Amino acid sequence: MSVFSAVEMAPRDPILGLTEAFLADQNPKKVNLGVGVYQDANGKLPVLECVRTVEQQLGQNPKPRGYLPIDGLKAFTTEVAKLVHGADAAEIAENRLVTVQTLSGTGALRVAGDFLRPLGNGTLLLSDPSWENHQAVFTRSGFEVGTYRYKAAERDGLDFDGMLADLRAADKGTVVVLHACCHNPTGYDLSDEQWDQVVQVVTDGELIPLVDMAYQGFAEGPEQDVKAIKKFVATGKPVVNTVSFAKNLSLYGERIGALQVTCTDADEAARVLSQLKVLIRTMVSSSPTHGATVVAAVLSDHALRTQWTEELAGMRERIKEMRRRLVDGLAAAGVTAANGKKDMGFIAEQAGMFSYTGLSKEQMVQLREKWGVYGTDKGRICVAALNDSNIDYVCEAIADVI
Ligand code: LMR
Repeated sequence: MSVFSAVEMAPRDPILGLTEAFLADQNPKKVNLGVGVYQDANGKLPVLECVRTVEQQLGQNPKPRGYLPIDGLKAFTTEVAKLVHGADAAEIAENRLVTVQTLSGTGALRVAGDFLRPLGNGTLLLSDPSWENHQAVFTRSGFEVGTYRYKAAERDGLDFDGMLADLRAADKGTVVVLHACCHNPTGYDLSDEQWDQVVQVVTDGELIPLVDMAYQGFAEGPEQDVKAIKKFVATGKPVVNTVSFAKNLSLYGERIGALQVTCTDADEAARVLSQLKVLIRTMVSSSPTHGATVVAAVLSDHALRTQWTEELAGMRERIKEMRRRLVDGLAAAGVTAANGKKDMGFIAEQAGMFSYTGLSKEQMVQLREKWGVYGTDKGRICVAALNDSNIDYVCEAIADVI
């Protein structure tokens, strides 16, 4: 009798488990639209030129790999503070912005969850729907996880009135997770005016905002996509936000990201930092060196940073182009209202890597089994993995299962 004999088989991860199934699929035409990974026009995961340059420099002059400080590489956290909050941000000048290096955005969420859990009222609200891993991460941190309305149930687009009503009804001290941009999975973002209203309701209700930013630069640009964080900071109340360089620097496997806490003064910030360090030390001791070194080098060098913003714009525009092509391709394949089917024009209005297609679980399973086209059971597809070679096939497949 093994000590592990009672261990139950865990369900496959709803997103990364799809990649496992995709890799095992023998269909030569298979397309992975499951995981949120940007691929270039040739279907390849890009190494950005700005990253390649830094790595060549590092290759010629390798740096020692000692332990980083618990809160991360100073050059990295300094650059991230300026990138997200702005070089002239008052919270930086007043030493009340805490930035710690984390294992990408997910690591930041977990540290944030463990930090906030004892501070609020123990409940945390996610958008309905939200990134599938949010629920699991925050449940692990001990929260009672609930939802606020987000995607309209009966139509495409937001249920903004429902969202506001649910946030207004939340108890003081509830943590509210908001997506800074490129909402995952729906692709529906709030307008400027809608953000103003959300910030007001969160502030009035004394809720704790946790703004998850995994896609900075994929909606409108790196400066525009931080607007929600800036609006919260402008209230003068504490705000927590995450940062990830997985997508926007194509550094997925480096697990490089950050957690930021904007405090009310420097003394509070020092105490917050000390607690975040305890959490990081007990989870992973300290963070890895390489990704942080690369990001710091790109962000601190004018030419490399300019190159990065151009490469990022290239990724953003290619995704937008694929959205338009998908809409046109589906219409050409007969998915039109005139044909008695749902018009898919809404795909072009969504932002970021994902589209919420509205397809049912049965249709997504059929897409997978009959066509080898992988999206999540909830109907999410990664538009950033479409290209000239697979888009017609994907349109044909979707048209077939609808
Ligand atoms: C996704 O939503 O597909 C990405 O954020 C990757 C992941 O870790 O789930």
